[in-house]
Amino acid sequence: MLSIADLHVYYGGIHAVKGISLDIAKGQIVTLVGANGAGKSSTVRAVSGLVKSCTGSITYEGHGNILGKAPEEIVRTGIALSPEGRRILPHLTVEENLQLGAYIRNDTQGIAKDKEWVYSLFPRLKERAWQAGGTLSGGEQQMLAVGRALMSNPDIVMLDEPSLGLAPKLVNEIFAIIKHINSLGKTILLIEQNAFAALSIAHKAYILETGTVVLEGTGQELLHNPEVKKAYLGG
Ligand SMILES: Nc1ncnc2c1ncn2[C@@H]1O[C@H](COP(=O)(O)OP(=O)(O)OP(=O)(O)O)[C@@H](O)[C@H]1O
Ligand SMILES: [Mg+2]
Repeated sequence: MLSIADLHVYYGGIHAVKGISLDIAKGQIVTLVGANGAGKSSTVRAVSGLVKSCTGSITYEGHGNILGKAPEEIVRTGIALSPEGRRILPHLTVEENLQLGAYIRNDTQGIAKDKEWVYSLFPRLKERAWQAGGTLSGGEQQMLAVGRALMSNPDIVMLDEPSLGLAPKLVNEIFAIIKHINSLGKTILLIEQNAFAALSIAHKAYILETGTVVLEGTGQELLHNPEVKKAYLGG
């Protein structure tokens, strides 16, 4: 469904992504695991059109090569990103932040339905619908970022560290929600520091190191791979 081939990302003189290729099949959960600075966020930001200097190709079924398209166009093709570090709008309410996630849509009824759906996934957000985003707790802001990404009604949802800063109980909840969203037919590209949980739910996984893919396999294969165990699963 989405095929990334020989992707390179540069920030000035820094060569952050050095020829990454990934295949994301429709309906799957695909995860990217890797140490800090491995190039995970840069990869999804490139897919979303948020990095200026990149080469290679990103082929999205039915849309051709989307590399170089504007971020808004990419959202319109059906790819949404819940960015790392939340990036919600602090002065807008929860409700307004969700509404913004639907800015490319004009199906008022569909938007209202999806908003209720997001509130059912995250009841905490519903309780706080009129609270300013910036006054939410870190974990609540994280939920809002995920909810906002869902509001564009994407076919592919890219989640950059959705469990970051969540309490252990909420981490389990967010993984259950990711599985649930996937069961509704949405394709998921998941970045996680929590390698065990991510590999456990992933159909396919890629291990990144310093801008390249060093290992790939099914989630289960990598969960049982000795090198992965040693480097990412605490032995
Ligand atoms: N805007 C930027 N300007 C300069 N260098 C950048 C920029 N963004 C990222 N980098 C560099 O690119 C490399 C890859 O960063 P990236 O954010 O993609 O890593 P990551 O795998 O998501 O790491 P983390 O797990 O810490 O989020 C890092 O060395 C980082 O310092
Ligand atoms: Mg990152």
